[in-house]
Amino acid sequence: MYSAERQQTLNEISKKILSDKGYCDSLIPAELADELKELIKFHEWRYYIINDPLISDYEYDLLYKKLQQVELQHPDLVQTDSPTQRVSTDVTKDLPVVNHLTPMLSLANSYDLEDLVEFDNQVRKLTGLDKDSIIEYCVEPKFDGGSIAVVFENDVLTRAATRGDGQAGEDITNNIKSLKSVPAKAEFSRYKMQKVELRGEALIRKDQFLKINAQREEDGLNLFANPRNAATGGLRTKDPQETADRKIEAFIYQLGYAIDEQGSNLLNQLSTHDQSIELLGKLGFKIPEKERKVCKGIHEVESYCQQWQKQRDSFEYEIDGMVIKVNDRKLQDLCGYTSHHPRWAIAFKFQAKQATSRLINVEFQIGKMGAITPVAKVEPVQLAGVTVGSISLHNEEFIQSRDIMIGDMVLLERAGDVIPYIVKALPDLRTGNEKPIEFPANCPSCQTPLVRIQGEAAWRCPNEKCGEKIIQKLIFHVSKDAMDIDGMGESNIRKFHELGWINNMADIYNLDFDAIANLEGFGKKSAENLKSAILKAKKNPIHRFLHSLSIHHLGKKASKLIAQRIDNIMDLKEWTLEDYLLIKDIGPVVAENTRAYFSNPENIELLERIESLGVNFMSTREDKPTIVEAETLLSGKTILFTGTLSKMGRKDAEILAEKAGAKNLSAVSSNLNILVVGENAGSKLEKARKIGTVEILTEDQFIELMNHKA
Ligand code: IVH
Repeated sequence: MYSAERQQTLNEISKKILSDKGYCDSLIPAELADELKELIKFHEWRYYIINDPLISDYEYDLLYKKLQQVELQHPDLVQTDSPTQRVSTDVTKDLPVVNHLTPMLSLANSYDLEDLVEFDNQVRKLTGLDKDSIIEYCVEPKFDGGSIAVVFENDVLTRAATRGDGQAGEDITNNIKSLKSVPAKAEFSRYKMQKVELRGEALIRKDQFLKINAQREEDGLNLFANPRNAATGGLRTKDPQETADRKIEAFIYQLGYAIDEQGSNLLNQLSTHDQSIELLGKLGFKIPEKERKVCKGIHEVESYCQQWQKQRDSFEYEIDGMVIKVNDRKLQDLCGYTSHHPRWAIAFKFQAKQATSRLINVEFQIGKMGAITPVAKVEPVQLAGVTVGSISLHNEEFIQSRDIMIGDMVLLERAGDVIPYIVKALPDLRTGNEKPIEFPANCPSCQTPLVRIQGEAAWRCPNEKCGEKIIQKLIFHVSKDAMDIDGMGESNIRKFHELGWINNMADIYNLDFDAIANLEGFGKKSAENLKSAILKAKKNPIHRFLHSLSIHHLGKKASKLIAQRIDNIMDLKEWTLEDYLLIKDIGPVVAENTRAYFSNPENIELLERIESLGVNFMSTREDKPTIVEAETLLSGKTILFTGTLSKMGRKDAEILAEKAGAKNLSAVSSNLNILVVGENAGSKLEKARKIGTVEILTEDQFIELMNHKA
């Protein structure tokens, strides 16, 4: 239907419009509307027909919204064939089409908390409620599957259909009858309901989806892009057994229609949406049960949505947002409908997890241990709330297994807090100008031939004098995790290294701050700040210093364990392999690497120089937590910090609390004893207040408590 070149062009125009760099303004509205219409239809084809989308849902929504906007400003441009004039359709000619009892509408979308407040205000306006009255909302996950409408007559499932264009959908009765989660009979008659239509979503669990794809791979079949495609495809097969085999499940989230023997509407018999869902649960349907919450007021809705945004990845099913519904049926009626969506409901869409972009180049970075990491440079795109421009490609094998080329369009994903990664290249969009990624044979910095240690995925530069490796070690030395020298960072390390001022760790403690003050981009104040940051670092506990040495595999935890057992860093000169191995949790590799480091005369010479420059080598109270008095005011208590602390970093505060015998928790629950609130504390504070037994302290009160302890 679309040639490869055409697809290429359409995708490029989509990107231009999505990146919004003045391209839209360069067109007259009629041209822009035409382009948007064509793009939307193209992406719908990729999505619905060939099941292989090139852009994320989020990007699709943006294109759609843009068209709506143009048409709103220029109503003369609205044509009947515009995608905005129909509800999107998944009707193919294969299955018989049936009319829904009432139209299956869409939902209005919101993307941030402000939109929710606006929705709440709108509901107030429509219902005549004043700003002090609290509106109840029923909030449930927005399931990311295929919507279905199921009709029961005289307690028997008589018909099921896909959403189709909202007015009519495809008849999938037999397929729905094969699903275990939809009862074939349900006692609606107990509630005098003679005919009902239920709305819901057909879904596949995420783990089941992985199993299906693994099997398809084995069978040499095309893989499904996501659980939704597997579910919607499964609903519309001609073979009910195939639907059942995919283990499709259906959540029912709406009672759309209900009449009694006389044909009277019974929907208002139940006073809230929540009650109607409860009733459907009792009748044996799968409903959002634990996941559904009646919230009092829009602020409770906000925190519930945020909570779900955080935990969405751990949910068994894919969800792409939350749906917020006015709970009271009478209020719903007062709100009414547009031709597109109910005015009493809104979807809160989570930030996009996927996006596409072009791979411009691959750089090969050298780590502090010499490992070479290929890093993809992509055209910057928005992904789950952050702009992404560089993405690790991990190692050579990763690149080979995914057939990625320079110039490719690639699909990126960032799930939850996970670092963004490249899911796949989109080879359909290749122009022929793509180039293979050539993995270097020599170190990009010192040209030494790279080596690969057996059993490791990474290629390494074996040269201990490699300039970039040295710089990486210095960058790590000053980083937050190690000596934590505020204001030093990568760019200053590189600058001072270029100037010949820093060639090794000792040089960091012997800088000429007058010379720094005279550097371009510095000045007295920033030189002073750097000086005091270095002075502060000189007093660090020795576990930080140990960790900062970049001894291969010696991490934070092992550094702490070793530091607990010595009085001075130099004690390690005498340590044998056995001394290390006596420590539980320290393995032979760390033991040998650390022993070797402290028996190398070059290292000892460097350490002596560092010590002579005033860096603390003696163990401190923080290194020996056993010294901390057992009985302190915080001892045995659970504690949590929320909001922005102004006098110390969150991590430091947690360490302090831990040293004082408290246990840090990550969430507010009835197990929490103390909540320390910084600025802009949000839902955690609210929740703690609600629990009632949590002691709430300001940052100053916490500090006072700590001083009191000392
Ligand atoms: S209520 C009149 N609730 O979202 C009420 N819809 O654009 C309209 N969806 O395709 C729908 N989870 O299938 C509602 N808990 C939920 C939902 C939900 C997913 C889907 C629905 C429709 C789309 C709305």
